[in-house]
Amino acid sequence: MTKKLQAVRGMNDILPERSGRWHVLEDVVRGVFADYGYREIRLPLLEPTELFARSIGEVTDIVEKEMYTFADRNGESITLRPEGTAGCVRACIQHGLLHNQTQRLWYGGPMFRYERPQRGRYRQFYQFGAEAFGMPGPDVDAELILIGTRIWRTLGLRGIRLELNSLGLPEARAGYRAVLVDYFRAHRDRLDRDSQRRLESNPLRILDSKNPDLQSLVAEAPRLLDHLDPESAAHFQGLRTLLDQAGIEYRINPRLVRGLDYYTRTVFEWVTDQLGAQGTVCAGGRYDGLVSELGGQATPGVGFAMGVDRLIDLMQDQTLGEPDLGGIYLVASGQAAAASALVLAERLRDQSPGTRILLNCGGGSFKSQLKRADKSQAEVALVLGEEELAMGTVGVKFLRRSVEQRTRPMAEIAEHLRAEGVI
Ligand code: HAM
Repeated sequence: MTKKLQAVRGMNDILPERSGRWHVLEDVVRGVFADYGYREIRLPLLEPTELFARSIGEVTDIVEKEMYTFADRNGESITLRPEGTAGCVRACIQHGLLHNQTQRLWYGGPMFRYERPQRGRYRQFYQFGAEAFGMPGPDVDAELILIGTRIWRTLGLRGIRLELNSLGLPEARAGYRAVLVDYFRAHRDRLDRDSQRRLESNPLRILDSKNPDLQSLVAEAPRLLDHLDPESAAHFQGLRTLLDQAGIEYRINPRLVRGLDYYTRTVFEWVTDQLGAQGTVCAGGRYDGLVSELGGQATPGVGFAMGVDRLIDLMQDQTLGEPDLGGIYLVASGQAAAASALVLAERLRDQSPGTRILLNCGGGSFKSQLKRADKSQAEVALVLGEEELAMGTVGVKFLRRSVEQRTRPMAEIAEHLRAEGVI
């Protein structure tokens, strides 16, 4: 027997009963981005591997072990994008979008990481991201945070809180790194294997460890916030003041270090306790060195990306964004009535764009057609039988209200449905 074909592990089909909720989220996100003056940039799924090594960082989990990398037929090493910031910066440099101008951009689509799949963590997942270029101050950091906040609010999502930290500039961070390495070296026997490895390669990531045995050691570690360069400290204070004035709640989390190397100064995450281990629904920060690192003229940048799959789970748990299908289902018996139903359906679509109108296709008894009408979640069935056809009328059957079926002249049907609030 042949093996049943299945989707690649960690890659999900989004079935029709879920896709309606995706549309609700996508419409809100697009609308809010547009309202803040962000414009869409569409980027390739494949990029040269080197782009990610140079931006995300050689010694990060993503680049070391999570990328889908392969040689194309020409032998060039290419990678399925694990995130959107690097490609966005690459495109901005390539097309000269950053010369003496500011840019507010957004993108969306699938990202790929070879992680261990579990709820909220997939190998193909979806992000919406926003990136702002050419603005060095904390005002635009605050703007991005306001955008995120507005999206959660518009969707009606509850239980998402904001965590904030500053990583300072790379030079000050190098100083802090030395202090941190000294501290962890002095307690080397208490570190787990992963952290011992990170002690040499990426010691800040130890602060991120989920290992319960390390928590007290990490809690007492020196804090990066106490080692910031003066400009970064002022930037952070500026952002806090703006957020306070805008009434945005946040928690300073000195252990928030992020898993990508390009960040400078502000970093933030929105987290929820309602999704188990994968509780970060959106994350981002400032990356003032990235554009020049990738060969562009030095330009400050800041942005975030939200995990759409996780937000959809949260919407589902909070019963938000249930698509309201409704609409009309046309039922007909006999060839002449079926043809007449097809014409009536087109006329209704002309008169009421945006109303869902389903035509019964494939015949069947009235009973079976009405069953399909009910299953389609339509609000009303319009019934055309031989009698209706002869009289020039249509039967109107409300499927979700307990009212008698009624008959109306075909010519007045749209008016009647409008009066009843169906279209
Ligand atoms: P990130 O923290 O790697 O940042 O990802 C952002 C969000 O994508 C996460 O908070 C999470 O919600 C979602 N996400 C990440 N990995 C997975 C996965 N395997 N399955 C499901 N969801 C996932 C970035 O990607 C940066 N590019 C964000 C950014 C934009 N920073 C500045 N600009």
